[in-house]
Amino acid sequence: MHYSEDLLEEIRTRCDIVDVISGYVRLQRKGNSHFGLCPFHGEKTPSFSVSGSRQMYHCFGCGAGGNVFTFIMEYESFSFPEAIRALAERAGVTLPEPEYSEEARQKEGRRARLLEVNKAAAKFYYYQLRAECGKSALRFLLNRGLTEETMHSFGLGYAPQAGNALTLYLKSKGYDETLIREAGLSTFHEKHGTNDRFWNRVIFPIQDINHRVIAFGGRVMGEGEPKYLNSPESLIFDKSRHLYGLNVARTARKGHLILCEGYIDVISLHQVGMTNAVASMGTAFTAAQAGLCRRYTDELLLAYDSDAAGEKAALRVLSIIRESALGGRVIDLSPHKDPDDVIKKEGAEGFVRRMEAAENGFFYEIRVLEKSFDQKDPGEKTRFHREIAKKICALSEAVERDNYLAAICERYHINTDSLKKLVASHAINTGLAKPVTRPRAGTREKDDPAQHIRRAERALLTWLSEDVMLYKQIEAHLCAADFSWPLNKRVAAILFEALKMGKANPAAIISQFSDEDEQREVAAIFNTRLDNLDTPAAIEKAINDIFRMVKANIHELNVRRSGDADGAIDGALAAIAAKKALDELPRIKITH
Ligand code: CTP
Ligand code: MN
Repeated sequence: MHYSEDLLEEIRTRCDIVDVISGYVRLQRKGNSHFGLCPFHGEKTPSFSVSGSRQMYHCFGCGAGGNVFTFIMEYESFSFPEAIRALAERAGVTLPEPEYSEEARQKEGRRARLLEVNKAAAKFYYYQLRAECGKSALRFLLNRGLTEETMHSFGLGYAPQAGNALTLYLKSKGYDETLIREAGLSTFHEKHGTNDRFWNRVIFPIQDINHRVIAFGGRVMGEGEPKYLNSPESLIFDKSRHLYGLNVARTARKGHLILCEGYIDVISLHQVGMTNAVASMGTAFTAAQAGLCRRYTDELLLAYDSDAAGEKAALRVLSIIRESALGGRVIDLSPHKDPDDVIKKEGAEGFVRRMEAAENGFFYEIRVLEKSFDQKDPGEKTRFHREIAKKICALSEAVERDNYLAAICERYHINTDSLKKLVASHAINTGLAKPVTRPRAGTREKDDPAQHIRRAERALLTWLSEDVMLYKQIEAHLCAADFSWPLNKRVAAILFEALKMGKANPAAIISQFSDEDEQREVAAIFNTRLDNLDTPAAIEKAINDIFRMVKANIHELNVRRSGDADGAIDGALAAIAAKKALDELPRIKITH
């Protein structure tokens, strides 16, 4: 859905950023700004500032920043459209109905009905667990160590013994049989007619990230097959795209997610305060689930069962998350079976200890690999080393390859040069290491000249956005095309347009970008500050240096381009012209 700029501005201006953020963070006024503890990283002294006049926030500690939309996006882990909807509601702004095609509209209606019938079913199960017929189920859960409060917060329920109690209940509430069947709540047989899918089972409602019930898992009490029965896939349930517990875990803000295999594991972990646990519900972890996690964290801690199946599953997860630029570590649960078991036997402290000792995913893979080769047999040992080389090759960054190579050589007493050769020959045989893009922020930025310019361009944009008088002094000498990075160029174009009219509004500019990653980037652009600038003179010098650096960079690019296109002489002429232009740039003065 595309909302007009006017509408976005209306919502934004009606949601004062200080008001909104005060709902999440305790703020204290200091001068023109409000300060508080940053909700995006752990800190003890406030470095998170919110400016009412600029309608932006910025953390001097971790660099987070943006407008009211990006705050809600970051804090609630919402997409841009979700943030718009939330703030529109708060501001009492009605959003236009999206214009759906007839087909899409029907599908939307169907989805809504399915969610509704699931909600009704969840309610039914919930009451049964607390009713007379649910006594044994309740006892089962209590025996598993769950408190009533935990059962309540996960909405646990019970599907009674009678074969079609739920179906009858739902029909009495006006839901038709086709819908009930489509939701997977009942099954139909020629011979037996319609029956509830779940009976005499403990029920785990599966919620999407917006806390809507999209499916159910049902466990037998005691022994019995199958141990778990789950809702089939439907219009609203694609099990490869959901994670159990993520609706809570996504706002846990612990820096990582704990990935386990089962419902009970997630619930036990949440019960002892580790509300960042999620589960892939027994099925293989998918790339879509990795992408989902990537929205909330950049590291997964794997807490898979300590048996052979769990080990195999963990290896699979590690290879999938590597593709998604997620880091992974593996928690050793042995000799216990699963996280629930560890908590029972060693308490929450035991689990935390194991979590802190979680092994780097790469080392884990190598360690598992080692077990399958007889290290006393030279041939096997060679094959082991070749497998290591293969794994090192698969790493995307050169530094990473170097670091792991060194670490592995030390750990397994392998001669570094020999392993390097194996890596090189593997790379040549397979057409070099696989190129995977890794959007990791903040590494080695200073050493990379391209990143250096990017930062310089951004710092210049930040300064100009804050002081129209700076822009007036160089207006004739600076245009959007002078910025070499595409997004900086686009932001510059919008910013300069506004500055020409006399005033820039960075918060409004951010909302002009609809892609959420771009929004975060634009917010960062307007909060680019250079270190160690404490006196006005230092700032003035920095502004001039940066202004010249940005201009010099674009001239150099142009010179190179015209040299390539028109030959050496034109290139040389362009260079002379460029030098002259640089010499003629005015000196900027800070006027207040
Ligand atoms: N699972 C499933 N169908 C099965 C077995 C398992 O869907 N027949 C899924 C469930 O989501 C389950 C997870 O795989 O939670 C892990 O299975 P398991 O370790 O057997 O169950 P636990 O959650 O550990 O349950 P419990 O502790 O009660 O044995
Ligand atoms: Mn288990």
